[in-house]
Amino acid sequence: MSPVNTVNDMAQNWTPSSWRNKPIQQVPDYPDADALKATEARLAKFPPLVFAGEARRLTASLAEVAEGRGFLLQGGDCAESFAEHEADNIRDFFRVFLQMAVVLTFGAQQPVVKIGRIAGQFAKPRSSNVEKKDGTELPSYRGDIINGIEFNEKSRVPDPERQIMAYRQSAATLNLLRAFAQGGYANLDNVHKWMLGFVKDSPQAERYRALADRISETMDFMKAIGINADNHANLRETDFFTSHEALLLGYEEAMTRTDSTSGDYYATSGHMIWIGDRTRQTDHAHIEYARGIKNPIGLKCGPSLDPDELLTLIDMLNPANEAGRLTLIARFGHDKVADHLPKLIRAVEREGRKVVWSCDPMHGNTITLNNYKTRPFERILSEVDSFFQIHRAEGTHPGGIHIEMTGKNVTECTGGARALSGEDLQDRYHTHCDPRLNADQALELAFLVAERMKGGRDEEKQVVNG
Ligand code: PEP
Ligand code: CO
Repeated sequence: MSPVNTVNDMAQNWTPSSWRNKPIQQVPDYPDADALKATEARLAKFPPLVFAGEARRLTASLAEVAEGRGFLLQGGDCAESFAEHEADNIRDFFRVFLQMAVVLTFGAQQPVVKIGRIAGQFAKPRSSNVEKKDGTELPSYRGDIINGIEFNEKSRVPDPERQIMAYRQSAATLNLLRAFAQGGYANLDNVHKWMLGFVKDSPQAERYRALADRISETMDFMKAIGINADNHANLRETDFFTSHEALLLGYEEAMTRTDSTSGDYYATSGHMIWIGDRTRQTDHAHIEYARGIKNPIGLKCGPSLDPDELLTLIDMLNPANEAGRLTLIARFGHDKVADHLPKLIRAVEREGRKVVWSCDPMHGNTITLNNYKTRPFERILSEVDSFFQIHRAEGTHPGGIHIEMTGKNVTECTGGARALSGEDLQDRYHTHCDPRLNADQALELAFLVAERMKGGRDEEKQVVNG
């Protein structure tokens, strides 16, 4: 049988629950199977959080990125939490995210596709099933959608009711994000107002202000010739999409719906979902689930992924080779990216596969310092730098970045222009899972990435002119 037929046969056998017949990693141990089933049945009747048409629009935007005509900015919390569900947190995140997008749009001179790790990013894969503290051993925390972070026996028991809470929090978060994106807050006339209190006196403030001045000047010029936010929706509002790791498949299955216009299945828990580095085995449940839904899909690519396995995964996840369907999120570590990324890029190029290449400079650069999990800013930057250099050398498009960040002034990653030290980590270390860039560091990273992109364009011009 030809590979194409095999893929077609596989597609015919897919159902939203066919993942249940496959081996699976990272499953929580729910003590009450009936309660879990009842919760999933309730969720299956709830309204979808996102709509098929929106997911299709995101695929179309990502197709432009895959073809080299756009840049992807994806970011947000490592794990959202019930405790931090505050309007101010969402607003501060969205503001910094918009600032980063503006900086990157200027650097890339291309549209920036904006996707948050938000409104559904609750489930966490863990390296160990247990956590030990002062001689006590308990099941690991797996994200607020599954169990509680408090270190006691009761809170660590997986509770299905948490899925309902996560759904409701996602709906409320999404409601606010839709209002921000479409209701005037994202209007480019506000480019100066997006400056946050503490970013105002940060090392990035002057750079951002200068850029905002240039945008305002351009807007004034455009107004003078009749183009303004009232008559041009692109100046007034923005597309903002949601994403999360599709880890808790019972929840994902319950949120999977048939689109009435196309008859296709869509995950309606978020616009894009991704498969984590720990759950991407070709014959396992998570890949089985992802291959059958039509949303854009992300695939985390870590050091253990070899080129042949990547090509198999691409065949399974994107058999029609549709641009925008698949984003490969490279997360190797600053010292490993040069060993791994080029051979994956070459395999993809050799086979003519259309993908978006994005760089996650967070997950391969985690270290422990003074008992805190942290990430040195210079390693994050170094991985991003290598990512750009490697793509330039291979003649491929460095399509985006995927980061863990917050709009708050936390102290979780060391370094950056304020030179946060190991001693500073204890001040405001709030993350429920991995260390995030704070607003300052996120904006600084955006400026540095923008410089790299501008550098790439200047080089291309020299080649053309030279
Ligand atoms: C994550 O993105 O939070 C994550 C767990 O990533 P990875 O699967 O790449 O380790
Ligand atoms: Co993480």
